[in-house]
This record gives sequence, structure tokens and C-alpha cells, in this order.
Amino acid sequence: MKEKIGNLLKDVKAFNANNIEQLEDFRIKYLSKKGVITALFADFKDVPPEQRKEIGQLINSLKTTIQEKIVTLKEGFENADKTIVKPDLTLPSDSPLGARHPLSIVRNNIIDIFARIGFTVSEGPEIEDDFHNFSALNFPMDHPARDMQDTFFIEKDPDIALRTHTSSVQVRVMENSEPPIRTISPGRVFRNEAISARAHCIFHQVEGLYIDTDVSFVDLKQTLYYFAKELFGKDTKTRFRPSYFPFTEPSAEMDISCNICGGKGCNICKYTGWVEILGCGMVDPNVLNSCNIDSSKYTGFAFGMGIERITMLKYQINDLRLFFENDVRFLEQFKSSI
Ligand code: DAH
Repeated sequence: MKEKIGNLLKDVKAFNANNIEQLEDFRIKYLSKKGVITALFADFKDVPPEQRKEIGQLINSLKTTIQEKIVTLKEGFENADKTIVKPDLTLPSDSPLGARHPLSIVRNNIIDIFARIGFTVSEGPEIEDDFHNFSALNFPMDHPARDMQDTFFIEKDPDIALRTHTSSVQVRVMENSEPPIRTISPGRVFRNEAISARAHCIFHQVEGLYIDTDVSFVDLKQTLYYFAKELFGKDTKTRFRPSYFPFTEPSAEMDISCNICGGKGCNICKYTGWVEILGCGMVDPNVLNSCNIDSSKYTGFAFGMGIERITMLKYQINDLRLFFENDVRFLEQFKSSI
């Protein structure tokens, strides 16, 4: 028996496995219920009592050697696996293809529509100073109109704030260029508002600006009329209502015929048949002068719209928060070529 155990020990020590399957066969051969060790313990009952201690120890040490061998070889395979597994970048992916965010789709649509009539795109900073966000746009200090927009100020400097609208970009464009100016400015804006289905503290706007000699309200109406039909369809009707903004005079808001009920009246248009989509007006001469544009020579119009609002109308989305949650089930419904 001693000799038998000695030979087995030699075999075990000499064993090497090329793969995990061979190692498993080895384990089964030695350690399973019908394996070598079980058989040795079965034979043990025939060992004369004076040899039992020694033989018992030999069997136990054989068993331990087998167990250690298995652990060592197994670790070797696991580490080898780690070094072998490199990502194969040529493999096709089974994860879903990305889709553009609905706000990006609509923003690109808007840019595209205005680009066709000669508008360029301009951008400005999201962190603004009082001059560009308010003063140059004819919001005098302490003017109640500043309360229309709940501003996030930078704590240490009341002159610096997160822009409350993209109208700040029109100031920057006018400061830095000569008319004729024809530009739109899409971007992110910030207001200190409680988050709900209809409001958010972050949202997106597109500002439009057209400055040249002899620009009139007719140009404004015609431009926006074209825009509404391009974006919402050729049967869309528009109407202008008088309004107030410090930076335009006269000011208006533009409604379109409700694209959901076609103007018949539904809960989206609150049974009026009309939905508001933007604010606009003729640029106030004070604004032109603040931006070093000669108001005796040039006139212009401006408009501003919320991208979320337009996207909600276009796709009949009833909760603004969906745009910011980035739930893939929502996002993957928007596939577009733009
Ligand atoms: N800045 C305005 C807002 O955030 C939107 C706006 C209205 C922009 C009229 C304009 C405009 O350029 O003419 O509410």
C-alpha cells in the first residue's frame, strides 16, 4: 500500500493539464466519490493496526497534494484567461445603435430651415455678465422686467450669472460684426424654476437676429411664417399677438394653428385652436446703440423660441422631464437622418 501511494504521489506531482477540461478529469479521477482517494480509504480497513497511523498520514498528504495541484493549475488558467481576453474591435456589436436626442433633431431642423434663407449660426458663453444678459438688452437696473427671468447668479459676483436666454448672443454678435447680420443662436439657458412637467431649470432656446437697412415688421412676419410652415407643415397657420419684451419695440408673440387638432380645439391648445411658439419684435433702437450699431441707419428684427416647447408640440410629448432623464426607451423612438 505504501508503494502504491508513493507511485500515485509521483503521478500527481508529474501531472500537468493543458486546459481546464483535463484538470477537471484529473479532479474526478482522484477526488470524486468513485475516485482514487475514496478507494484508498476503502482499502484502509485492511491495513494492520500498527501501520494505520503512517498509511493514514500518507493518504492524507496525497489528498492535500492533489488539492493544491488543482488550485495552482486552476489559478494559472484563470490568469491566462485574463491576459488573453482583449476586446476584438472587429466583432459586430449587439447593443442598439444610438439615436439623436429629440432636442438635437429639432435644433438641427431649425438650423437647417434658417440656413436655407441665409442665416448663419452663432454661439455665446453660458456664463454671462449682466451687460450681455440684461443691460445691453434694455433691461435697466431695478427694472421689473428682470423679474420675468429667475436668474442663477454666481454667489461671489452679482455681475456674473448663468444666461437666462440666448438673447445675450445677439448682443455679442452685434458688438463684433457689421450689418447686414443674419444669424440664429441655439443654446442652453438656465432659470431658477422648480422642475415640473412644464418647467425646468435648464432648457434650450434658439435666438434669431436680422439687422440691415430697411428691415421692417413685414420681413419679420414673412420670415417666421416661412419657418412655421417648414417646421410644422404647409397647412400651418400663424397669428401674431402684441406682447412686451424690453429689447424689442414693438413686440409680439407668434401662435401657430394647433398641429394636434388642426385648429379645431383640443386639450393641448386649451380648446383655442392656437399654440404659442415664440416671442419676437423689432430690435429696440436702445439695443442697437448699446451694441455700437447706428440706429439711425439700421433696423432689425429678433425672435426667440424654446426648443423643448417646439419639440413637445412636434412629437406630442407631454412631460418636459423626459428630455433630461435620458431613458433609452424614450430616446430610441427618435430616429432621424439629420
Ligand atoms: N429672450 C426671450 C425669452 O427668453 C425670448 C425672446 C422674445 C427673444 C422676443 C427675442 C425676442 O429675440 O424678440 O423669453
